[in-house]
Amino acid sequence: MSIGLFDSGLGGISVARAVRAALPRHDLIYLADTAHCPYGPLPTAQVRARSLACARWLVGQGARVVVVACNTATSAAVELLRSALPVPIVGMEPGVKPAVAATRTGRVAVLATSGTLTGDRFARLVERFGDGVEVRTVACPEMVSLVEAGDLASPRAAAVVAGYVAPLAADGVDTLVLGCTHFPPLRGLIAAAAPGATIIDTGLAVAAQTARVAAVAGVGPNTPGGRIAFSNSRLLVGLIMPHILPGPSSWL
Ligand code: DGL
Repeated sequence: MSIGLFDSGLGGISVARAVRAALPRHDLIYLADTAHCPYGPLPTAQVRARSLACARWLVGQGARVVVVACNTATSAAVELLRSALPVPIVGMEPGVKPAVAATRTGRVAVLATSGTLTGDRFARLVERFGDGVEVRTVACPEMVSLVEAGDLASPRAAAVVAGYVAPLAADGVDTLVLGCTHFPPLRGLIAAAAPGATIIDTGLAVAAQTARVAAVAGVGPNTPGGRIAFSNSRLLVGLIMPHILPGPSSWL
């Protein structure tokens, strides 16, 4: 029995990290759909099909809760996954509500993929929680590419991030929502490009929700517990690795 997580690629590791902090003795299995990354520009039908394939694979591997560690996949497919799979599904969406509560200038920006920002779920989220605040949206595909390439700190990475973020800060946006799970690893560069801005990441809230859902589903800690299996759709080699993940292990 484990908790499964998937993303288009490496971004969901930021969510796995939060889940691991909340549930350190639970086994996790993480699937990066690297062969189909990025999801952001894909047609919705394709994101749905990929999400279903990933979630089914995780259930086949023993996942008894599936976390959609991807805003784009949640936007396109969370209802489909809930109706098609026999396990509880935890989704995620950009933190518009906490951003609206945090802003002092009345201007917030959501950094995400075009798929997330053009979806009906996002429109409903802003309608419900926007509360008269100006909610700007910025699709940041090059930030996804940086993270997939493991380029988190180079001068080029800093320039790419500043290209998206600095104009927002200059316009009085004081709160930035990380609406894509690829962006937390770039948090330092984002903060440097918008000094003093509040940065909202929903990873911790998703981890808390995962803990609640796992408890209700009877998915308890494992003995000895705390293993993480990491797989990707390009290789589909499952490596059982206690306490570490391949790649930039400082994320976890
Ligand atoms: N990490 C994903 C998200 O949270 C999507 C990145 C992509 O594949 O475009 O939306």
